[in-house]
Amino acid sequence: MNVIFLGPPGAGKGTQAKILEETYGMVQLSTGDMLRAEVAAGSDLGKEAKAVMESGGLVSDELVIGIISSRIDQDDCKGGFMLDGFPRTVPQAEALDVMLKDKGFNLDHVLELQVDDEPLIGRITGRFTCGDCGEGYHDMFKKPAKEGVCDKCGSSNMKRRADDNEETVRARLQAYHDQTAPIVGHYGKQGLVRPVDGNTAIDEVTNQLKTILG
Ligand code: AP5
Repeated sequence: MNVIFLGPPGAGKGTQAKILEETYGMVQLSTGDMLRAEVAAGSDLGKEAKAVMESGGLVSDELVIGIISSRIDQDDCKGGFMLDGFPRTVPQAEALDVMLKDKGFNLDHVLELQVDDEPLIGRITGRFTCGDCGEGYHDMFKKPAKEGVCDKCGSSNMKRRADDNEETVRARLQAYHDQTAPIVGHYGKQGLVRPVDGNTAIDEVTNQLKTILG
């Protein structure tokens, strides 16, 4: 099964993708994570993306389409994948349609996590992750059992993202409404959109998703 997670910044795309990865065996493909890895590595691609990401804007369609196309070719995608953060513009969605057809993949669902804007600011500014294993946490909604120590791997190397400040989050929300929300119409025409109420608790959102995925 191959799905897209669609939703504004902080909607819970990454949180839910990580939970479902274990249940359904689909691999999470996050363009945000891939771009942050390029930035950390100091590659040419990372240098091109860094300033745009820190401003809350979107990096070029060409760049992310290229990244996703090579990633989908890897063996672990044959068992199914969840696209998280891609596509983000109508041209990216159109390129993905062609790419999937050429590579012989189907798209089963577009899971649209719907969340009001204001709670998203708090979700994002309170977010942190384990720098060693990637487990996600939140100052209010998902605290580690022992403060500053990862429940999963025991590391105390917790990190916050450079773009998780209020000013940048507001710019990211604007980019979502202007450039990403029109994708709902694109996939609506294909009968693939499954709306999910993302305002509820994390496990309730997971239950809604499991009802859709079966
Ligand atoms: P990206 O990394 O994709 O960021 P984003 O879309 O802004 O999404 P987030 O990762 O912030 O949110 P999420 O929905 O995954 O939320 P999470 O599950 O962590 O992109 C970053 C940047 O890269 C972009 O701004 C752009 O510059 C660039 N980029 C990436 N892809 C691109 C593309 N295709 N084209 C162009 N540019 C691209 O949850 C957030 C927090 O809330 C967590 O702490 C979590 O614990 C908590 N939480 C989750 N669900 C709930 C819930 N139901 N109730 C309470 N708390 C919850």
